[in-house]
Amino acid sequence: MATIRPSLAFAAEGRLMEISVRRSDPLDVACDALVVPLLKSDRVPRVLRALDTALDGLIGNYLAAGDLSGKAEEVLSVPTRGIEAARVIFVGLGPDKEIDAEGLRRAAGRAVGALAKAKAERAAFLVPSLRRVAAPRVGQALSEGLALGSYRFDKYKTIDESPPELASCELIPLDERQAADVRKGTRVGQIIGESTNFARDLSNEPGSVHTPAWLAQQARNLGRELALRVSVLAEAELRKEKMGAILAVGRGSAHPPRLIVLEYGQKTASRSRPNIALVGKGITFDSGGISIKPAAAMDEMKHDMSGGAAVLGAMRAIALLKLPLRVVGIVAAAQNMPDGEAYLPGDVVTSASGKTIEILNTDAEGRVVLADALHYASRFKPTAVIDLATLTGACVIALGSECCGVMGNDEKLIGKLRSAGDRSHERAWPLPLWDEHRKQVKGTVGDVKNTAGRHAGTSTAGAFLSYFVDDTPWVHLDIAGTAWTNKDQAYCVRGATGFGVRLLLELLREWK
Ligand code: BES
Ligand code: MN
Ligand code: ZN
Repeated sequence: MATIRPSLAFAAEGRLMEISVRRSDPLDVACDALVVPLLKSDRVPRVLRALDTALDGLIGNYLAAGDLSGKAEEVLSVPTRGIEAARVIFVGLGPDKEIDAEGLRRAAGRAVGALAKAKAERAAFLVPSLRRVAAPRVGQALSEGLALGSYRFDKYKTIDESPPELASCELIPLDERQAADVRKGTRVGQIIGESTNFARDLSNEPGSVHTPAWLAQQARNLGRELALRVSVLAEAELRKEKMGAILAVGRGSAHPPRLIVLEYGQKTASRSRPNIALVGKGITFDSGGISIKPAAAMDEMKHDMSGGAAVLGAMRAIALLKLPLRVVGIVAAAQNMPDGEAYLPGDVVTSASGKTIEILNTDAEGRVVLADALHYASRFKPTAVIDLATLTGACVIALGSECCGVMGNDEKLIGKLRSAGDRSHERAWPLPLWDEHRKQVKGTVGDVKNTAGRHAGTSTAGAFLSYFVDDTPWVHLDIAGTAWTNKDQAYCVRGATGFGVRLLLELLREWK
């Protein structure tokens, strides 16, 4: 299967699919397969009449016979004669009045599947013009779908069952006047798609590989390739900063914690430029620690650094798109393990803010590392703070896997996240964070305690975090239900999803 490998040393090693936009007659595009998106219809659309004629009325015949209808996610792959393309792959878009960017993303993802089945290496893709989706958005959604849909994490597979790489895909706008707009969107979509895949690659690595030090090295590599300043606080610096919280969580592990900091935007950039802090939970494996988790599905806890991975992926896209902002990305990386040195239930740890945290359950470790990371963010005097964390099982129970939870101290910022979520289809749904929840996490021995029990577990986790942010606008995204998936979807295979990259970029590209 075609694999986009922007990742680990993303430019050097990269086997990237080349996505380009070209004006051309669909009949003349020489390629292994031509993808033809089709709105739901029982007649051959006007823009495809010439193609239909060249194909001897094939489209009309299939429509009449009911083999083709244009319904969403329909795929029909047929070898052809009469045109330059060796094969045509029809993908359904659904009804004209329902198609949106997500529908295009899914259609592109389905097309990638059919291209793989056909062992296509060079593809072309007809780009429809739609009433409901503007041309740049069409280009963006299609290239996101192509990039995300081609992703496989197969570096550990030695028995090769994968078809050849999809090396290139040419997008051919059916309305030639839209070529420039489609091209603009395509560039954005490819960067966002590949940056999401970068985040997925980080998260899919085994816990024994993507240790805090390894993650820090990936950040340094990113910094070398892009306009990012990267600094890493190792144990000595963490101690100097009095980061007793992240140090406590990492203490039971042979792989000590790191606080990874990436800065984007000229140091000299105008102070009036917005300055956004992105903070990610980077628990590289969450065994639960002394409050150890049951064995079932514990393997999935390698993904407990997905918030951090999303921050790294977003920083990559922000830098490549040269957004007119200042952004600092902070990843709190630690491995949560039980051993003779491990932190204990009943311990009281002093965070960098000076506030003390009473540990009641060592498995509520994410909020503990975030306490130090959120406090550290404040030294950058951000205009807004956004954290992403696979924080609570309770969020998975409450919201499932179609959206993340969002809460914070600023209704306007929460609204912005929700709207960016709707537009990117990485949706965010609000959960309450009230003074009552803040009271519930007050400690008996320490200032705050790291769990208030099972009731409203996502809200009390958010309330805990709120003690470590000042009155800067702040939102917390609980991505526990969305960071990975156990089933293959239209443009996302099983494993890490990279959730958050699209959402953050949708928000930040239009930040005012
Ligand atoms: N990383 C987990 C949360 C999680 C669970 C994410 C399942 C995705 C799927 C987190 O560190 C955790 O263990 N939280 C505990 C908190 C509890 C002890 C208060 C939980 O949710 O059970
Ligand atoms: Mn845990
Ligand atoms: Zn965790």
